[in-house]
Parts: sequence; structure tokens; C-alpha cells
Amino acid sequence: MSGNDSNKKFYNTVPLDVFQSLTRQGGFDECIDLELIEKHIAASATIMEVGAGYGRCVDFLLTKKQDAKILAVEQSPQFSKVLSEKYKNQSRVQVIHEDIKTLVVSDTLDIVLWLFSGLLDFSKEEQPIVMKRLRSFLKNEGKLFIDIPQLAELTVAKYTSAQDIVMETPYGNISTFLPAFKDIEVYALQAGFSKVSVIHYLTTTQKKRSIFMLEV
Ligand SMILES: C[S@@+](CC[C@H](N)C(=O)[O-])C[C@H]1O[C@@H](n2cnc3c(N)ncnc32)[C@H](O)[C@@H]1O
Repeated sequence: MSGNDSNKKFYNTVPLDVFQSLTRQGGFDECIDLELIEKHIAASATIMEVGAGYGRCVDFLLTKKQDAKILAVEQSPQFSKVLSEKYKNQSRVQVIHEDIKTLVVSDTLDIVLWLFSGLLDFSKEEQPIVMKRLRSFLKNEGKLFIDIPQLAELTVAKYTSAQDIVMETPYGNISTFLPAFKDIEVYALQAGFSKVSVIHYLTTTQKKRSIFMLEV
């Protein structure tokens, strides 16, 4: 097993409080990423989150006055259970316990969120394939948001071992591939997006991050 599937053990076994503390260490718990993109998603009718975890982003969306339908896609059985329990009385939220690599959607969407390094969980080969898939989920005016750390601003077109990062944890290893900014632009073009823009920012724990907005 390799690529995204090899990371499932971690997400299926990491205790919720440990995962939440990683979110805090990353400086995402106050949702600065979502604050930054809020104006672009405020008027949307349908928002999908890829890998909804324990509902950090869904909670943020629910605090806003917008009435968008929220599709929370999550492959991990334990996180899906947390999400299903948490939102069982929320008619706006649909929890979808599936793998994004094989998920089929019936209606096209306004927004897809793939935040907090979600893309990195996929190998270099998988990333452009999933990107194409997400593009196919979107309406003609749809937007995909992708958040990655700002470590791989390569100036030469070659890959370095620093982009293949393995995190060893007591709950299993996480193998990630950190794309360069240029890779995101290439994936976007290949997937059929017409415009790419980027917001660089610091999280509340001073981590340098970038959010890419890909427009259909
Ligand atoms: C880094 S966490 C991000 C959690 C959440 N999006 C946030 O911003 O707080 C990545 C999440 O994506 C989920 N995930 C990884 N691969 C997936 C896949 N193929 N399909 C659906 N979810 C996936 C993981 O189980 C995990 O919950």
C-alpha cells in the first residue's frame, strides 16, 4: 500500500484529542484560513469539504449566517462517526463516509474546500488525478480552495527529497508529498481550471501557509 491509502491507518486510529492538539499546534483552531476565504464562499449554495476530520471547518461554516448545504466527506470511520453524531440534528450538513478517490456526486457544487494540507496526504501521482476529480464536481462558476504549507517554493523545476515528507507517529506513519506552487498551477491547468490565485498568510502559531483559489 502506498500514497493516500497508506495514511489511512493514522487517521483511523489517532485519538481525537491528539488530532485536535495537532490542529492547535498548526494554528488552525481559530479558523484563520476560513476567515481569509469567507468572502469568496459566503454566497454559495453548496460547499463540500474534502476530509472533514472532526468538523473544524463545518463548525465554522455553521456559525456564519449563510445557509449553504455542507457536504462533509471523510474516509476515516472514527472521524465519520464523530461527524455523524455531532451533526445528526443539522439538516444543512450531510456527512459522507467515503473515499474522495472514488466518491461520485449527483449534483454539481459551488465550492470545494481542501484545507489544512489535505492535498499532501496524496502522492505526487495521485494529486493531479484527485484535482481533476474535484474539478468535475464543480459548477461552471465553482471554486476549489487548497491550503498548503509554504515550504516548497522551488525556483527550479526539479523535485527534492524535502518534498517527500514522512511523519512517524505512534498511530502509523503519514507519507506526504508537498507540491511546489508551480505544481498547483500545472494541476489546475490540466484539470481545466481557468484561473489560479493565492493568499499567503500566517496561522495563529506563525506557520507560513498559502491558500490557492482555483476557479473553473
Ligand atoms: C489534515 S486532516 C484535515 C481535517 C480538516 N479538513 C481540517 O481542515 O481541520 C485530513 C483529513 O482528510 C481525511 N482524508 C484523507 N484522505 C482522504 C480520502 N481519500 N477521502 C476522504 N477523506 C480523506 C483524513 O481522514 C483527515 O480527516
